[in-house]
Amino acid sequence: MNRVQATARTQARYDRLAPVYDLMGALMERTAQKWRRLLWEEVEGESILEVGGGTGKNMPFYPKGPRITAIDLSERMLQRARRRAARLGLEVELRQMDVQALDFPDKSFDIVVATFVFCSVPDPVLGLRELGRVVKPRGKILLLEHIRPECPWLGRLFDLLNPLVVRLFGFNINRRTLLSLAEAGLKLDFVKDLDRLGIFKLIGARPSA
Ligand SMILES: C[S@@+](CC[C@H](N)C(=O)[O-])C[C@H]1O[C@@H](n2cnc3c(N)ncnc32)[C@H](O)[C@@H]1O
Repeated sequence: MNRVQATARTQARYDRLAPVYDLMGALMERTAQKWRRLLWEEVEGESILEVGGGTGKNMPFYPKGPRITAIDLSERMLQRARRRAARLGLEVELRQMDVQALDFPDKSFDIVVATFVFCSVPDPVLGLRELGRVVKPRGKILLLEHIRPECPWLGRLFDLLNPLVVRLFGFNINRRTLLSLAEAGLKLDFVKDLDRLGIFKLIGARPSA
């Protein structure tokens, strides 16, 4: 399957999942909220882009004041995000867009944020390269991601389980996102382990000069 087909499949999958997405993640969300808070504490700037914003779970953490744009591949996820923004009284521009081909000029944003997104983007290096293109030279890229565990046997177990997880839920559990960041030409500022197994990470990066 090529990238265009894989992207269409991802979009269809999230359109289907949208009505149950929040329910599916409800158990995990309590922990995830602590991590989301940590990420948003790092955010300062006048223009913020959130990619793969989904149903808008980060919206309660959006700072007041900056211009915020959020994009997602799935129109159905965006519909839910629009409702959440209205409930919270937020002014946010929500647009359907593919992170692998962002429709923004170079150096448009002070901060680019993504939470649990690059596990399901068909070509993560292309998507990450796009983040590096649209962020300003002194800007920040902040990610919350789950990645392939470094522990060898656990990593192999995740490789084995991955096809099943992709089929059931649409995301990969064995992405080597830190390598993808380097391949995309981004510089790591910090990586914070969020769990004992080294699966969930808070990552700060920036475009290389
Ligand atoms: C696991 S959900 C995470 C949603 C949200 N960020 C959160 O923390 O709950 C992944 C999201 O990424 C979006 N996505 C996947 N591939 C994408 C792409 N190529 N471009 C933009 N969004 C994409 C999906 O539609 C989905 O809303």
